[in-house]
Amino acid sequence: MSYVIGVDLGTSAVKTVLVDRSGRVVSEHSESYPLSQPKPGYSEQRPEDWVDKTVLSLRLLLEEAKVSPSQIEGLSFSGQMHGLVLVDEEGAALRPAILWNDTRTTAQCRRIEKILQEKLLRIARNRALEGFTLPKILWVQENEPELLDRASLFLLPKDYVRYRLTGQFAMDYSDAAGTLLLDVAEKTWSKDILDAFNLPHSLCPPLVESFAECGTLLPEMANQTGLLPETKVFSGGADNACGAIGAGILADGQTMCSIGTSGVVLSYEERKDVDFEGKVHFFNHSEKDAYYIMGVTLAAGYSLTWFKETFAPDTSFDELLNGIGDVPAGSGGLLFTPYIVGERTPHPDADIRGSFIGMDAGHRLPHFTRAVLEGITFSLRESIDILRASGKLIDRVISIGGGAKNEIWLQMQADMFNAEIVKLESEQGPAMGAAMLAAYGCGWFPSLQACAAEFLREAKTYVPNPETAQKYEKLFGLYKTVYGATRELSKGLAEFHG
Ligand code: XUL
Repeated sequence: MSYVIGVDLGTSAVKTVLVDRSGRVVSEHSESYPLSQPKPGYSEQRPEDWVDKTVLSLRLLLEEAKVSPSQIEGLSFSGQMHGLVLVDEEGAALRPAILWNDTRTTAQCRRIEKILQEKLLRIARNRALEGFTLPKILWVQENEPELLDRASLFLLPKDYVRYRLTGQFAMDYSDAAGTLLLDVAEKTWSKDILDAFNLPHSLCPPLVESFAECGTLLPEMANQTGLLPETKVFSGGADNACGAIGAGILADGQTMCSIGTSGVVLSYEERKDVDFEGKVHFFNHSEKDAYYIMGVTLAAGYSLTWFKETFAPDTSFDELLNGIGDVPAGSGGLLFTPYIVGERTPHPDADIRGSFIGMDAGHRLPHFTRAVLEGITFSLRESIDILRASGKLIDRVISIGGGAKNEIWLQMQADMFNAEIVKLESEQGPAMGAAMLAAYGCGWFPSLQACAAEFLREAKTYVPNPETAQKYEKLFGLYKTVYGATRELSKGLAEFHG
């Protein structure tokens, strides 16, 4: 039997999965690393931590699986998007990585809009958001200029780890699309954008497809992981593109909802000229010459984790969620907006903050917990509506991540999205997508679709309950007004942060 490995370099941990030719996950292993928030709005990680923990995770994965390294043909990556890693001529990281959920770059975003104007949406196809990479590069240019002078290349998180494993620099289109430096339709670095900010073209790594082979393991890395030096390493993709592959989102009309730290509604897109006016993200898929459109709720699973840690630290997630079954849809008139770290879709606003509206003396912990789930899901429904408004039919959604682990939450998605929700049999999210890129790269299948047909199986479908759907539709109208009603309040309260 032969195997491939998927490495998912997430925000809180790296997860590795070993998958056989039928798509069966033989073993999986996870190693976490810290996230540092040295100032309000800052979010950084040490690239060295990613490398150490990836190597450790690979070694333990192999030990647990008891599979001979000679049977492992290849590995590939999925990575948290947008994070800026600057490396010098020797390939050493020059500073901690500035992550996708870091919001220090509002001024740089405004500068990008002012300088590029309509070029930004025409070329990069996305708005200037704090999380994206170009604003981070400009922040370094303005605040740590001597450091940018020493940088010979910028990389994204998984590209740095892959470089350390193979010694080769590369970036795939799906991740490059999140930098704001890529001409998304042409699949080239944009000379116009680089020149507009006096950035040397040499700062950009070579572009490759997600399933392209990027060499094999360096001997010392083979030694440390227990893998053979001839193990093929494939470039990999952005976590959302890999999540889409792992959920089988590989043809027009297919949509997924992924709830992890952030939450994402993502739909496959073939039309490269369709104009969403920047309301949703438009990125290159890891499938060749395909795209996806995506709306993002910044704090999806994170809202629930924050809520549990703050208000029910001694209760397990299962216990907390078991309690919500008795609370009716609408949480007894309690609404939550999940803007605890700002928002992206449909409100690109780093200053907005969350709220509970409608608190009543009769509300207990389960009402609040259900309201948190409902608020996260309403926020994702706002993304669904933008996609529907563009003419997309969304009547079936594959649900993955934390949101697919709880029956009540799955039914809630069906009722709120008014669409069938499908849960997969063995759902490994982006790690599976990464393994599928390796399997396709190794030539196991003629296409990613053929790989998905072999690897992925549906477990259960949740159908909307018309009565609850109607109730949620009404409540959604109220939910949507909360942003406008709290925007100025949030701005006023911002000076008290920190
Ligand atoms: C997407 C985004 C997040 C990260 C999370 O634009 O910022 O989904 O990729 O890892």
